[in-house]
Amino acid sequence: MSNRVSVQDILQKKKREKITCLTAYTFPIAKILDDYCDIILVGDSLGMTIYGLPDTVEVTLDMMINHGKSVMRAVKKSFVVVDLPYGTYEESKEQALKSAQKVISETGCDAIKIETTEDMSDTVKYLVDHKINVMAHIGLLPQSVREIGGYKYQGRNEDSAKMILRTAKLMEEAGAFSMVIEAVPAKLADEISATVNIPTIGIGASQNCDGQVLVIDDLLGLNQQFKPKFVTHYANLAGEIKLAVDRFCSDVKEKKFPSEKNMI
Ligand code: KIV
Repeated sequence: MSNRVSVQDILQKKKREKITCLTAYTFPIAKILDDYCDIILVGDSLGMTIYGLPDTVEVTLDMMINHGKSVMRAVKKSFVVVDLPYGTYEESKEQALKSAQKVISETGCDAIKIETTEDMSDTVKYLVDHKINVMAHIGLLPQSVREIGGYKYQGRNEDSAKMILRTAKLMEEAGAFSMVIEAVPAKLADEISATVNIPTIGIGASQNCDGQVLVIDDLLGLNQQFKPKFVTHYANLAGEIKLAVDRFCSDVKEKKFPSEKNMI
């Protein structure tokens, strides 16, 4: 019997118990998160956090697979979702299925996430019909930042809010097991969470979402220059790393490292 969190476990948490989700891209971080998080997301935010790219647009399927494998080697309990990156699922439902099957067979992850507008509902249904667990992603779609001109809150006017709500309903109907709601007004996120019967996972959305997700680097304060309103730095790892590196460099220069105890 597996002790892994299942789709059923996640569905049952709606309105009962908040769902915790963080991103992980590597073995050591995934090993720590596995003791705490219901869901680990191998997000294409790795384009920025790991590769120093300006956005997620140049992330490839191979990058996602490599980091997905690294995370899966560490995980014993959490449910693992891997993002399909830009250009690997939008062209046709067949393209989406091929990419999803490749990611799942090569990493062993539990589900894939795709950024979804209304016109993606056929693709989601096709994936679900082929036994792929799909997490939808609505609201701000980071893979479209070049088209929308940056990381802007979505759903701020009536038309945009209605469109996002419609998308949420379509994703539920198409069979997605949950959805990330990113960067929309709390009122809209609340309406979506109250309307759909699948769990909503908020980021920059509302405390009434069924769960919350953050990028692990943001939570750990690894990039002190980046702090949007929806991020809380739960640690200052950038500061901790600087202190440690500064001490190491001083010790080497002052011939304190390696010391007697580090040598044989
Ligand atoms: O790529 C990612 O990390 C994400 C989260 C921000 C939800 O999609």
